[in-house]
Amino acid sequence: MRVLVLNGPNLGRLGRRQPEIYGSTTHAELADLCVGWGAGLGLEVEVRQTNHEGEMLDWLNAAADDGAPVVLNAAAWTHYSYAILDACAQLTAPLVEVHISDPRQRPEDFRHHSVVTPYAVEVVAGHGVDGYRIALERVAGG
Ligand code: DQA
Repeated sequence: MRVLVLNGPNLGRLGRRQPEIYGSTTHAELADLCVGWGAGLGLEVEVRQTNHEGEMLDWLNAAADDGAPVVLNAAAWTHYSYAILDACAQLTAPLVEVHISDPRQRPEDFRHHSVVTPYAVEVVAGHGVDGYRIALERVAGG
C-alpha cells in the first residue's frame, strides 16, 4: 500500500527550528525514518514537505483521486486553513493527523483548534517524530 506523509510549512527546518519544541531530527532524517518504518509495516511511504499551500492542496487533491492514505502534519495551516479543511474532506482513504508537539497543550490559543481533526481517523500529537511511526502503524492496521 502506498502512503503519503505530507508535511506543511516550516517543517523543512526540523532539527534547526525551535529544537526545544520540535527536537533535533532533521526533515531528511524524518523522511528516512518514515520510509524505514513503512517498509517494516509493508507500506510504500513517500514523504513530502512544502511551504506553499497550493502545492499541499494539489497533493491532497491527487491523494483524493488516487484513494491514497495520508499522514498529514499541516503545521500552522492546521489551525486556520479552510482550503486544507476542504481538501481533507474529499479524502476517501484514512487520514491520520500528526503533530510533533501537542498543540492543545501549548499556550497559544490559536493552536487549540484543528480544521483537520474532523476528517482524521486518529490524531497523534506530542510524541515527537515517533508520532509518525504511530500514525503509519494506524494506517497499516486499517
Ligand atoms: C505542529 C504544531 C503547529 O501548531 C505548528 O504550527 C507547527 C508544527 C507540530 O508538529 O507540532 O508548525 O504541527
